[in-house]
Amino acid sequence: MSENSQSTYQIQWQTVEHLKSFIESMKAEKQSVFIRKIKDLEEELKKLKKSKRYGLVWEDKPEDVVERCKTELPVLVGDETKTINENPDGPTHILIEWDNYHALSVLAYTHKNSIDFIYIDPPYNTWSTDWKYNNAYVDANDSFRHSKWLNMIEKRLRVAKELLKKDGTICVTIDDYELPRLWLCIEEIFWESNLLWVISIRNNPKWRMTQRKFSLIHEYAIFFWKSEESSIKKLPVNPEDKTHNYKQDTDWSWYLDVNLRKQGADSTATTKSWKISDRYYPIYIDSKTGKVSTVEKLDIEIYPIDSKGEKRIWRRSNDVIDEMYKSWDIWAKKQKNEYQLYFKFRGWLDGEMPKTMWYDSEFSASEHWTQLLDKILWERELFQYPKSPFAVIKSIRSATVNKNAVILDFFAWSWTTWHAVLELNKEDGGNRQFILCTNNENKIAEEVTYPRIRNVIQGYGDVPGIPANLRYYRTDFIGMEKSIDDLRKKFMGRCTEMLQIRESCFTPIQVEDENEYFQVFESKETILAVLYHPYEIAKLQKLADTTAKSIVAYIFSMGMEIFQEELSYLSNRLRIETIPDEILETYKKIFGF
Ligand SMILES: C[S@@+](CC[C@H](N)C(=O)[O-])C[C@H]1O[C@@H](n2cnc3c(N)ncnc32)[C@H](O)[C@@H]1O
Repeated sequence: MSENSQSTYQIQWQTVEHLKSFIESMKAEKQSVFIRKIKDLEEELKKLKKSKRYGLVWEDKPEDVVERCKTELPVLVGDETKTINENPDGPTHILIEWDNYHALSVLAYTHKNSIDFIYIDPPYNTWSTDWKYNNAYVDANDSFRHSKWLNMIEKRLRVAKELLKKDGTICVTIDDYELPRLWLCIEEIFWESNLLWVISIRNNPKWRMTQRKFSLIHEYAIFFWKSEESSIKKLPVNPEDKTHNYKQDTDWSWYLDVNLRKQGADSTATTKSWKISDRYYPIYIDSKTGKVSTVEKLDIEIYPIDSKGEKRIWRRSNDVIDEMYKSWDIWAKKQKNEYQLYFKFRGWLDGEMPKTMWYDSEFSASEHWTQLLDKILWERELFQYPKSPFAVIKSIRSATVNKNAVILDFFAWSWTTWHAVLELNKEDGGNRQFILCTNNENKIAEEVTYPRIRNVIQGYGDVPGIPANLRYYRTDFIGMEKSIDDLRKKFMGRCTEMLQIRESCFTPIQVEDENEYFQVFESKETILAVLYHPYEIAKLQKLADTTAKSIVAYIFSMGMEIFQEELSYLSNRLRIETIPDEILETYKKIFGF
């Protein structure tokens, strides 16, 4: 082989080798691309399996106030200048200014499973200047406006559910714009079986003007239980209700005239569920005096036979008829030459289940209440759509009979819920407590909500005040730390306001050796001691010696350490809790850090 042909051969050989390795690498690469693709598809499949097939879906548009909680955690700061103490025997109501997502997260620690009733009137997402998302008004033409609204409401409703007692109830008002989405969203959180119905409230009898659609005169209130351990409460009979012909007795109780002969379903004498002899029997009437008896054979004998000759049954058995006659609870009436028997029905007249349509004029917001608002504070242009407190009062009464109920409204704005609670307390001597959260958009919390509460408590114009107590809080933030110990340390000295609210114990008391690590507060029944250093434990004995009240001590700890053993000598008057781990656990659950 010549030198030339040898080198040509070498070059060819090298080229083949190159090509071979190139093909191998291509194969490997193809393989890895292929494997990657399979993995991607598997991931996709997993996601699809997890994703919803039925229900409400929307675009997740991150909300600044929610994102903030990934790097900062909320705490409360009290504004002492706004404290009102006008009723030493009453509860202390709470107003928290700032975003309700943060306020609710704090309440998830202070009021877990403790709220009797939540009433909210969120922005309805109806107009362009209805509400702000990430500091910008959500325009009526924003294609994500429903997604943003759902994002906002869903997160808050989930936390709110954790605050309700087992037998607690929530009521959310809304109009037609977001009703369908809200209904599905709330049903998913509270479950379909806990729906208590959607009430229609005629809040605007003068109607909302429309060009081409129906004129709106009502809005809705959606009621849900947290669990089926509750029931809607009966409300007093409304004698004005013309659907029933209520009559008032000499003892002022209400009754209805009811025909003794049963009508409708399950009323024929052949119905299996009745023994004919029990309810199909003769009753005698004295045609001259109107006397009714089953024992005495008087001149008229009647059976429960209807006009078509059908044998029916009496609504009462024969052993009670003569007694009913003695108390004038049963009487005979001649109608179209036929005798009918009527009796006074009082069965459910101690109250009746509230109905699903509330249409009385007192539920209308526009006239009566706007005028009253003008009296309380002259800010009508700031506040064009007030709610009627009567709707809130009826909602509270339908949901709870507890006169010490804790009632939360986290879209409070101006006044309705707390006015309703104060009026109810005044009316029945109750001690219901309200907790309100509202943002300070256009300084509404400071310049409208608070002054209105103060005016109603202290009186306005010629209207006397309703004495009550109030504390005003704002939210502040603590920066997140990577190490849990560093984070715990940051909560040192920052839990006091939350603990005051949790224990409803606000009045500071002077104790010997008090310092920033040992703070003491009292209410009528309880002493709250906040210890930011375990060395301070020794002071608890002294404290116990000075009071007969029960003591709850919150002790700062770098873990869930319980100091029960060291404090066992302090009798059962002392309850020990540790901070801040339970607070952090609550936040972890909500914010997922
Ligand atoms: C429809 S208004 C409630 C009116 C109230 N029911 C009344 O009669 O006075 C809704 C209120 O919720 C407040 N709000 C909206 N988003 C909020 C949020 N994220 N946190 C706290 N308040 C909010 C708004 O400022 C507005 O005042």
